[in-house]
Amino acid sequence: MEKIVLSGDRPTGPLHIGHYVGSLNKRVELQNSGECSKLFMMIADTQELISHTDSQERIRNHVAEVAIDYMACGLNPEKSIFFVQSQVKELFELTCYFLNLVTLDGLRQNPTVKSELSLQGFHDHIPAGFLAYPVSQAADIATFKADLVTLRQDQLPLLQQTREIVRTFNRCFGEVLTEPEAVLPSKPVCSKLPGTDGKARMRNSFNNCIYLSDSPELLKKKIMAINTDPSRMKTKEPGFLDRNPVFAYLDAFCGEKQFKEFLPDYRNLEELKEHFKKGGINDVKIKNFLFNVLLAELEPIRSRRQILEKDKGQIYGILQKGSKIASEAAAITLDEVRKAMKIDYFNMPVVYFT
Ligand code: TRP
Repeated sequence: MEKIVLSGDRPTGPLHIGHYVGSLNKRVELQNSGECSKLFMMIADTQELISHTDSQERIRNHVAEVAIDYMACGLNPEKSIFFVQSQVKELFELTCYFLNLVTLDGLRQNPTVKSELSLQGFHDHIPAGFLAYPVSQAADIATFKADLVTLRQDQLPLLQQTREIVRTFNRCFGEVLTEPEAVLPSKPVCSKLPGTDGKARMRNSFNNCIYLSDSPELLKKKIMAINTDPSRMKTKEPGFLDRNPVFAYLDAFCGEKQFKEFLPDYRNLEELKEHFKKGGINDVKIKNFLFNVLLAELEPIRSRRQILEKDKGQIYGILQKGSKIASEAAAITLDEVRKAMKIDYFNMPVVYFT
């Protein structure tokens, strides 16, 4: 079957390697698989505005940066529809209808809302829009009748919430909307890439990211500064793999091919890990290997990025065109939604008005 795909990113800043292994490379795979009829790539600016009402200028700049990152990674605007959330008004209309299908308690219990709440530090000033954001995400997905949504493991509650809302809608008003499924990264580590500081997640607001746009010099500096294991003072001491970002990045990025190319003393990552655990291998050697692995993967992305960056006008053109196509698709669904809800008053035959 020809699948419809939806992916979304908040424009929190330039995209980092967590985004890349967590979802971008999966999207490129889906795009090029020939199995998807439509792929919608949404830049969720409205969602980012919920908790950053004072950063419009920053968000505005980041929208273009995200689109540049998409293209640099291999998403092709001829094949995938890039669009900006705020420009598709139907998303907000459907959010509004969906809000009646959930309860406040249900939203407060949503695991993603709970964990985000503790990070955002709203205290007693939780914006109403924040509690409603799982509903808005459900609308993002349902508006395009997406069959597949690219997600990280920790975002699965988002999908669950969407499926519940869609089911409720279809039960109340008739079978109009599609229950989506998740497409997860191929390896578990790609769902939770740690930050360079060892924090559990790489995140723009934590300042612990390796960006797709980082220069080779900066990449090297960031890798060399990673604190792998503060208790291990000497090379011959055994090393620990737990909470070690260097090995997490190798897990995510490296196969046998890279060993042949950059570290032929070992056949694969398992062998390198064994040696590291026993002791006798120098951190710098592993970090240099990681640098080569990442550089080989990221350098083509960075050079494409540098070319794309020069023509922001072209990028806005792509986003404008994509937003128009997305709006047209959304308008069709919303017509069906209004009809199902019997609020399509003026689409009736003229005879009703005489
Ligand atoms: N919450 C996602 C993020 O933080 C962005 C997003 C908004 C999204 N709506 C979505 C992702 C719908 C998938 C589906 O990056």
